[in-house]
Amino acid sequence: MTSRIIGTGSCLPETVVTNDDLSAIVDTSDEWISSRTGIRERRLAKEETTTSLSLEAAKRALADAGVSSKELDLIVVGTLTGDYITPSAACEVQAGLGAVNATAFDINAACSGFMFGLHMVNAYIRAGMCRTALVIGAETLSRILDWSDRSTCVLFGDGAGAAVVQAQERGLIAFDQGSDGERGACLACRGRTNNNPLVQTDKTYGYVQMDGQEVYKFAVTTVPQSIRRVLENAGTEAEDVSYYLLHQANLRIIQSVAKRLKLEPERFPVSLDHCGNISAASVPILLDEVNRKGMLHRGDKIVLSGFGGGLTWGTSLLEW
Ligand code: COA
Repeated sequence: MTSRIIGTGSCLPETVVTNDDLSAIVDTSDEWISSRTGIRERRLAKEETTTSLSLEAAKRALADAGVSSKELDLIVVGTLTGDYITPSAACEVQAGLGAVNATAFDINAACSGFMFGLHMVNAYIRAGMCRTALVIGAETLSRILDWSDRSTCVLFGDGAGAAVVQAQERGLIAFDQGSDGERGACLACRGRTNNNPLVQTDKTYGYVQMDGQEVYKFAVTTVPQSIRRVLENAGTEAEDVSYYLLHQANLRIIQSVAKRLKLEPERFPVSLDHCGNISAASVPILLDEVNRKGMLHRGDKIVLSGFGGGLTWGTSLLEW
């Protein structure tokens, strides 16, 4: 028994913010952002929340799968920007869907959140603890960005992607995942500090801080290694995989991974040009876009790979 993705959905906020829009608030340009990253615009939440985006993505995924919310026995949301510290985004989604038979909780693995969620659901399925699950990656990163820091605020966007996963004979073939907490400081966002007046009165909030070049080096070495491990474990040749759906952080990272795997760039679909980096939501949003364009056919092999804060990485080889 393994896990098969039987439906996908996604949801982006209404508001489009172009690179030129950003050049009105920080010292940057469309030329700098698009040539260094491939990003041209992103969607940023106004009224939308992590929960509302997740809920809409979930409804679309359930409709695509032809599954009712009552059939769900597990909901996992990968996010680092849930609307509440508690309840979790997954519990909010459960309530919104009326998924009364599901256990629901969040996991924080930053940009690898959807992948870790998928692998955890797979473990639940293989252990016989669940049959039909919803895995979501969702973020409103715009709430934790320093909008005066041009080196980070131009890179990210908001949105949610979801997949319905069911216990079936074919589906997830092999996976690889890992963490390197020693290097966590190169992509970090501090949580609330202790504001107990009996102890101290520091009420500052953390914002995303990044050593871009360190993260870049991490990504271009770790991601190809992780993909190679998965392919080797499955006895699958890189050329036998139709598409490689990578976390959408930077076009140059994606092109470098393609080159290191000696594969043509056409096998690496891209959504970052119109989405930016949406952390845990990047991979499921791209998967949904590719699915809805009719690019996936039953029996095709695809690779999903996420990487980022933690540091963390996670890769799956799936039969569609
Ligand atoms: N607009 C204009 N100039 C900018 C800028 C912006 N938005 N952001 C930074 N700069 C400037 C820097 O201040 C620096 O100026 P200086 O040379 O005068 O000091 C110059 O551009 C080069 O900065 P640097 O950080 O060396 O650029 P880079 O080529 O490494 O590109 C990233 C920066 C962030 C695009 C790149 O490092 C990257 O993509 N890293 C991976 C980040 C990532 O993917 N993170 C998420 C992982 S989940």
